[in-house]
Amino acid sequence: MSRAFYVTTPIYYISGNPHIGHAYTTVVADVLARTARTDGPAFFLTGTDEHGQKVANAAAEHGTTPQAWCDALVPRWQSLFAAYHVAYDDFIRPTQPRHESKVQRVFEKLRERGDVYLGTYEGWYCVYDETFWLEAKLVEGRCPTCGRDVQWISEEDWFFRLSAYRDRLLEHFKANPQWVRPRSVYNEMVAILEEGLDDLSISRTNFDWGIPIPAAAAGHGGVIYVWFDALLNYITAIGWSEDDARFHRLWPASVQLIGKEIARFHTIIWPAILWALGEAAPELVFAHGWITVDGQKIGKSLGNAVDPFALAERFGADSLRYFLLREAPFGSDFSYSEEKIAQRYNSDLGNDLGNLLKRTLSMLQKYRDGIVPSRSVESALARRFSALPQRVRTLTLDLDFRGALESAWELVTGLNREIDERKPWILAKEGRAEELDALLYDLCEGLRWLAMLLHPVMPERTAQMWNQLGLEGGIAADWDRSLRWGGLEPGTQTHVGDVLFPRIELAESLQGA
Ligand code: MSP
Repeated sequence: MSRAFYVTTPIYYISGNPHIGHAYTTVVADVLARTARTDGPAFFLTGTDEHGQKVANAAAEHGTTPQAWCDALVPRWQSLFAAYHVAYDDFIRPTQPRHESKVQRVFEKLRERGDVYLGTYEGWYCVYDETFWLEAKLVEGRCPTCGRDVQWISEEDWFFRLSAYRDRLLEHFKANPQWVRPRSVYNEMVAILEEGLDDLSISRTNFDWGIPIPAAAAGHGGVIYVWFDALLNYITAIGWSEDDARFHRLWPASVQLIGKEIARFHTIIWPAILWALGEAAPELVFAHGWITVDGQKIGKSLGNAVDPFALAERFGADSLRYFLLREAPFGSDFSYSEEKIAQRYNSDLGNDLGNLLKRTLSMLQKYRDGIVPSRSVESALARRFSALPQRVRTLTLDLDFRGALESAWELVTGLNREIDERKPWILAKEGRAEELDALLYDLCEGLRWLAMLLHPVMPERTAQMWNQLGLEGGIAADWDRSLRWGGLEPGTQTHVGDVLFPRIELAESLQGA
């Protein structure tokens, strides 16, 4: 069976407040999957992270069981993704039997191999980040990532022999300088590896909301450490140890998207676990930057997160998807503000793209009753843009979303310029019918291309474009086959529809609303 493009997002802490940062990673994964599909099969996995003390505490505070608490919260995440037009293929929950049984199998397998052993753990633990810390890493006695209090833990634990993989990890980093991107994160990880690695405690006994340590290791009791459990979602969801053919069609993952704060888990602990299992490391882990407000990561403090549902309602989810990908190079932090969104929306989407569609279809209506003419003159646009789909796809799959959109915008600008320079109203007035036909054809054909090329980023608005162009079905079809200049059938009946991106005037800010 041929390999498929496999993209994952982190599984999101279920009790966190969904915000635009979570939508960000998930939207990017969606764009990758949709783009990969223009060329072959793809699979996109996301989900929620549900075990651990933090969730158990929250459930207790709300007077309910952890399972009921998680069940109640899952729809909030799923509706966030739906609101952002995300079409994932699978949504995994670590509380599902398909996951739990396999995590126990992993534990057993590694115990048999000697990569999991019983030892004593003493050290600091941050419940909020579910992370162990060395004394030396604490900042003024607190968690270095979230600044919260840490607690001293001393117990007999199961350990994963992470230290044994340090040399192989270093070699892997050296031999594959592109496997962790961007470079800043790659360098940071190499520095951690050069300092040396401790073994990792992977069991907890002071609470029970987690996957039980398998019976074969009984006597000890306890549950599996939430990160060890959570990381495995990427392979339990796709049939590891259950359906080999399916698993190997998807694994190793093509791209694992994460925020940079969890790079250590995904590029040091995760490949070591995979190797212990005899599986390959993912092809690429990309650690993107943070969306910030006033220089602070959204979500860090409760007050700085805008309601992502209200945001999607105000600007339209497709416009936000465009903004998130276009505003900053992928990998860097970028500061979010409604003014910036409105600015991009009104200029790129409203003025450039939306107006182009409106102008073209209005002229076609006026001069040709909305019917796509046939063209008899060779088109310069066809030559100029023939390699565009390939370029957009390559840049996108290389995670240069900004570059991909800039390339697509060359066509937007090119078409607008055709109108401005060739002035269809003059051609009409002077009765130069053949030239007018050719120009109108090219404008419509260019718009058909744009609808297809921008579909992964703006699935809903491009479907509207498609519809106004009089097209049915096929907007997500294979680019190589469908994007040949001249593919639009003469005689197609178009119609001028609603304005795609009506102008937005910012009245009151949603910030803090
Ligand atoms: N549950 C763990 C991940 C386990 S994966 C095996 C976790 N969850 S999280 O909900 O705290 O965050 C997950 C991801 O959300 C981050 O890695 C990042 O991709 C995204 N973001 C959260 N806040 C963000 C911003 N402010 N900006 C950009 N992305 C953000 O960590």
